[in-house]
Amino acid sequence: MTQITYVSTDDTRHTVDAPDGESLMRVALQHDIPGIVGECGGELTCGTCHVYVSDEWSDRVEPESEGERELLSMMDGVRPESRLACQIRVQHDMHGFTARISDHQ
Ligand code: FES
Repeated sequence: MTQITYVSTDDTRHTVDAPDGESLMRVALQHDIPGIVGECGGELTCGTCHVYVSDEWSDRVEPESEGERELLSMMDGVRPESRLACQIRVQHDMHGFTARISDHQ
């Protein structure tokens, strides 16, 4: 298990234990984290798992795929640190990882 924190748009922090290999989107759903919907189940068609990953962590997670980049390019509220939580898998070296949930889903 790896400790992950989600920060809601109202700055509430939700810290959970996440199993390695699971996506950040699925972990959020399992813990009823508000703001992450994951409507398409991780198929890269909805964008309802939009999070911001700080520079501190961006090079510690898998790089975005072409499909992720493409979907993000069509969404509102996208910043350089935008990622889709369904495309990031929890890894053991992510202990303390923090993702801020975007209010643009
Ligand atoms: S859950 Fe649909 S794009 Fe991530």
